[in-house]
Amino acid sequence: MADGFASSADRAAFIAALPKAELHLHIEGSLEPALMFELAQRNNIAIPFASVDEVRAAYAFSNLQDFLDIYYQGMGVLHSEQDFYDLTAAYLARANADAVRHVEIFFDPQGHTARGIAFETVIGGISRALADAKITYGISSKLIMCLLRHLSEAEAEATLDEALPYLGRIDGVGLDSSEVGHPPSKFANVFARARSLGMKIVAHAGEEGPPAYVHEALDLLKVDRIDHGNRSLEDPALVARLAGDAMCLTVCPLSNLKLCVVDDMADHPLRTMLDAGLVATVNSDDPSYFGGYVNANYLAVADALDLSKSELVTLAKNSFAGSFLGENDKAKHVAAIDAYV
Ligand code: HPA
Ligand code: ZN
Repeated sequence: MADGFASSADRAAFIAALPKAELHLHIEGSLEPALMFELAQRNNIAIPFASVDEVRAAYAFSNLQDFLDIYYQGMGVLHSEQDFYDLTAAYLARANADAVRHVEIFFDPQGHTARGIAFETVIGGISRALADAKITYGISSKLIMCLLRHLSEAEAEATLDEALPYLGRIDGVGLDSSEVGHPPSKFANVFARARSLGMKIVAHAGEEGPPAYVHEALDLLKVDRIDHGNRSLEDPALVARLAGDAMCLTVCPLSNLKLCVVDDMADHPLRTMLDAGLVATVNSDDPSYFGGYVNANYLAVADALDLSKSELVTLAKNSFAGSFLGENDKAKHVAAIDAYV
């Protein structure tokens, strides 16, 4: 074993209390089956599962679309402001248990407004839970509204219009859902408008889509961060550009395994990314669907790649460096990591 770990248990203990930020977390993807049943009952909604075990058995995916179909179905139990609060509060309790000190959370407003749920209901519950977590746990947060790329740019523009009254509570705009066939260029205008409003910009790119989509996210959307970015490694000039720009990649190991982006955790590109000088981070994406929260992601990939203590420290420091915190806050968190080590 490398650099200071006598065993996987030793490494797990180091990860457990390592201060970290989570930068790639879809709040709807943290809906645990038990809460899904509770909300279905609360809202009198029929779900096509008889038990938590049946739900878990349905979570076998061979690609991103397989997952998305069940993810959009799952979020259908969310109706009231309290439902969104309970969902977000449950995630934040888990994050706190994993020594997460700062979160940047995605939500998918179009997954809710299309079902007749008001934007105000969604953002009200999520932002109330984020404010409470700051008080209860000291966890700071940013909120990122994602646009669904399988829908049209006109629909994305309408969603940005709906968000305008809430810009005080929304820090950024992202791009998620079915990647292949829906390149960043499809959304160049709406992202330009979001940028002009002072919003941070992120986009899922290079998860299933080609390196050209990562180039488009950089050149056309002018992203501040790339979500996933795995397939960037196929393009050496792109890797050099990402490293030169210190562009953060929000990598999600268990998601990559569950969605067959990698066939085996031992083949995960995270070590290659770090060796190439990329600002890679570890995140859980949709932890309820992919089998683990952020520490489980660190441990799975660290065990498979035999990551050293210094590599884990680099990943945790990258999570703050790549965040949308101010420089003073970043420095405080990095100092806390140094103190921990
Ligand atoms: N990729 C794209 N869209 C998503 C994901 C993802 O991993 N999770 C939730 N929406
Ligand atoms: Zn994602």
